[in-house]
Amino acid sequence: MLLDVLVLAAGKGTRMCSALPKVLHPLAGKPLLAHVFKSVETLDNAALNVIVGHGKTQIQEAFNQQSLNWVEQRSQLGTAHAVLQAIPFLRDDAKVLIVYGDVPLIKSVTLEKMLSGVDENAMALLTVELEDPTGYGRILRNSMGEVIGIVEQKDAAPEQLKIREVNTGVMAMTARDLKTWLPKIENNNAQQEYYLTDVIGLAKEAGRTVNTYSPQAVEEVEGVNSRAQLVALERYYQQSLAKQLLDNGATIIDPSRFDCRGELSTGQDVVIDINCIFEGTNRLGNGVSIGPNCVIKDAVMGDNVTIKANTVIEGPVTLESDVQVGPFARLRPHTVLAVGAKVGNFVETKKANIGPGSKISHLSYIGDAELGSEVNVGAGTITCNYDGVNKHLTEIGDGAFIGSNTSLVAPVAVGKNSTVGAGSTISRDVPDESLAIARGKQRTVDTWKRPEKH
Ligand code: UD1
Ligand code: CA
Repeated sequence: MLLDVLVLAAGKGTRMCSALPKVLHPLAGKPLLAHVFKSVETLDNAALNVIVGHGKTQIQEAFNQQSLNWVEQRSQLGTAHAVLQAIPFLRDDAKVLIVYGDVPLIKSVTLEKMLSGVDENAMALLTVELEDPTGYGRILRNSMGEVIGIVEQKDAAPEQLKIREVNTGVMAMTARDLKTWLPKIENNNAQQEYYLTDVIGLAKEAGRTVNTYSPQAVEEVEGVNSRAQLVALERYYQQSLAKQLLDNGATIIDPSRFDCRGELSTGQDVVIDINCIFEGTNRLGNGVSIGPNCVIKDAVMGDNVTIKANTVIEGPVTLESDVQVGPFARLRPHTVLAVGAKVGNFVETKKANIGPGSKISHLSYIGDAELGSEVNVGAGTITCNYDGVNKHLTEIGDGAFIGSNTSLVAPVAVGKNSTVGAGSTISRDVPDESLAIARGKQRTVDTWKRPEKH
């Protein structure tokens, strides 16, 4: 059966105290709304309608690449009024699923389960029992346990306020039913809003069963109204991700100090120390070890790669097996370290192909460079890749030894097995198997005396 999904996202989000529309606030590096889209997109035959009002233009711009039907709700007169705006877009033979744009962690499996309970005789409602139900609509059931209505906090009698089963807001029914019921909803209630929750009464009148379902975890249906709630959900999300990785054979030293804002796959026996942030898409091979305080974006790592403390990787970066990086290294886009290569502390690389077994151990900048195998780059070596207008390439052949504090003025090439003396400024190519030294000669003055203080 066809499925029309309605994502309600027109509300203001006043309590975020923010210029950014609430549904664009990031959770795990992605807007709240993107999480909702991800959960509903995988549902069979789903067409997405997003109801927007506050911050409409900003929200649409953030998702302009996707095939979404945007529906405008000019003034926010309540959840039923929001849904009403989308009625012209609903297909008669479809099921309709209503979710909220500010409830990011809802799972596809939960929604699928609910949708299986919808047909011409029944609608579905997602409810949950809360320790503290304050603020939520309460679920009213009759003596047979059947749902007969939902009463909002502000309209509830003292007895009803004691009910701990609440409306999550997520519901589903046939488009035919919804189209019949919605125009009947009025706003004679405490908030003078059009309540979507009134469909329950109308469903009962029409003789429909209201099937209820619950999520696996409460956090799936928790909404974001404040920054405090946002960071609490972020932590929940990160801890569940950490748990998944643990289950897959990686050690996350402290799941409460782990952050992945994107995709991360780990091989066996990976160890990730505290305070690391993973962004974009990262793939870690078997036996990879990541030290504390690393920020790693878009990296592919082979087996047994070691990243030491405080390393920053801004990919795309490829590290083949047995590579060592850090502490305090910065690998910028298009760095490739071949098998067994090593980049040490205070080294920056960019657009650099570093061959097998080559080492840049300390204090260097290697940019726009091609290094062969078993090259040794001494401390303080710099590729002078930029002439103020264009970038140029530095090539270093297999087995070359670059003495400390060398400036390689590109375009320039150092041949295989050549040696460059420490402190050289190399601006012309060095042939294979040779020695190049380009520095001022040392002069020693043995008659010199230090000035004396008077
Ligand atoms: C709603 C439910 C309540 C439920 C709670 C769960 C109603 C009447 N009440 O209450 O039973 O327990 O959600 O969180 O439905 N929105 C619009 N346009 C509007 C009003 C709201 O798009 O005119 C959107 C909001 O952006 C938000 C969602 O609908 O994403 C829910 O609105 P909100 O005002 O937070 O609903 P509650 O009053 O909390
Ligand atoms: Ca409200």
